[in-house]
Amino acid sequence: MASYDLVVIGSGPGGYVAAIRAAQLGLSVACVEKRPTLGGTCLNIGCIPSKALLQSSERFEAASHQFKEHGIDVGSVKLNLTQMMARKDKVVEANTKGVEFLFKKNKVRAVMGTGTIIGPNQVKVALNAGGEEVLDAKAILIATGSDSVSLPGVTVDEQRIVTSTGGLTLSAVPKHLVVIGGGYIGLEMGSVWGRLGAKVTVVEYLDRITPTMDGETAKTLQRILEKQGMSFQLGTKVVKADTKKSGVTLTLEPAAGGAATTLDCDVVLVAVGRRPYTDNLGLQAVGVAVDPRGRVTVDHHFRTSVPSIYAIGDAIPGAMLAHKAEDEGVAVAEQLAGKAGHVNYAVIPAVIYTSPEVGSVGQTEEELKAAGIAYKSGKFPFTANGRARANGMTDGFVKILADKTTDRVLGAHIIGPEAGTLIAEIAIAMEFGASAEDVARTCHAHPTLNEAVKEAALAVDGRPIHM
Ligand code: NAI
Repeated sequence: MASYDLVVIGSGPGGYVAAIRAAQLGLSVACVEKRPTLGGTCLNIGCIPSKALLQSSERFEAASHQFKEHGIDVGSVKLNLTQMMARKDKVVEANTKGVEFLFKKNKVRAVMGTGTIIGPNQVKVALNAGGEEVLDAKAILIATGSDSVSLPGVTVDEQRIVTSTGGLTLSAVPKHLVVIGGGYIGLEMGSVWGRLGAKVTVVEYLDRITPTMDGETAKTLQRILEKQGMSFQLGTKVVKADTKKSGVTLTLEPAAGGAATTLDCDVVLVAVGRRPYTDNLGLQAVGVAVDPRGRVTVDHHFRTSVPSIYAIGDAIPGAMLAHKAEDEGVAVAEQLAGKAGHVNYAVIPAVIYTSPEVGSVGQTEEELKAAGIAYKSGKFPFTANGRARANGMTDGFVKILADKTTDRVLGAHIIGPEAGTLIAEIAIAMEFGASAEDVARTCHAHPTLNEAVKEAALAVDGRPIHM
């Protein structure tokens, strides 16, 4: 029987990063994966393909509507959806092959099949190629990720009623796409299909979109998306979906109760959240405890109720973000190798890849108010940033929140061009315990978008230069 220091179940960003880090530290590692390719949801049917389509659709949109202003005449622009999808598939393949290469380089064994934990130190794999194999493990790491949450009365067929998976492979641009859920997936996929020509309606249960985002930033995002043509029905729930040959009729009700209405569309995207995916993993039999929401219970060292079994990523509580899973994977690997692995949950950036992007890190204004923390806010709009103007992307702002007494940066919320990249500057500042003044006194190259971050930091002290 093959025996390993660590057997990882799941090869998504949490699992494959944990496997590589553990191997780097000298552990013998196997990683079990049931998909035919490595990389998990993120690389195969999530982050990577969606970003490929976001990039392509953004270029289509630019060629259709923005080139003219730049003095570039291209005539009428035509969409070749088959080519766009083929490019996306190639991007996915390059990424999954990349993980394969990294596994070989680091001597991590990929075991392609479905893993079940059959004891505190044993994983049985039903091999994709047929047959089964039992792996002996000093430690087992559950990194099985998550799956879409379904909605009662709305049956997903991945054709007319799709999750993000089907939303990435539509064979034609829908005339009318209804997105259920105004969160990360809904707004990103809604943006893709909206740019390619679909009318997009977002139906959201709450009276706001992106519930965990800073309120002012979420409102600004909604306003910008509306300007782009997306429409929103907030405070509304979907109670039923009837699929016909020609499309889908949704029955909607106000979330607070009231008369039902109907909404016709060609395609429905269900994006109402994700749930931990631990089906058939054998958790109950081996005694791994889960909470009422199905999340594996872990201690500060990612140890489950069975001491030799660990869990990370979407399978445990916390933000369902690839980079959070990666950092947890590294922390587990380092702990297993006798080091002090640790994740700072106060500084996990979150990014929505709409156009413009939204990047956040640390606390929102709502969270600071609820916690009774006195804070100062500095805000700087991209309309006042030279580079943003030159780029023709002036929507949005940078907002930095700092402790009223100590000036320590407590959070930042950026909506604007490259916000996902810009937010890293604040994440680093926060990791170093920086004050807003530290950020403001750091020399920022001109002309860059980052200057808006510096100006927001200056604005915390009421002294921006360019506003
Ligand atoms: P989400 O949690 O971001 O948003 C779900 C939305 O659906 C919420 O606004 C919620 O209020 C709403 N909702 C829930 N039940 C509803 C109902 N019955 N009717 C109408 N609206 C309802 O979840 P989403 O967008 O499905 O994404 C899943 C996970 O994947 C998230 O945790 C997200 O963090 C992650 N993700 C991250 C991305 C990124 O980092 N850029 C991209 C895509 C997904």
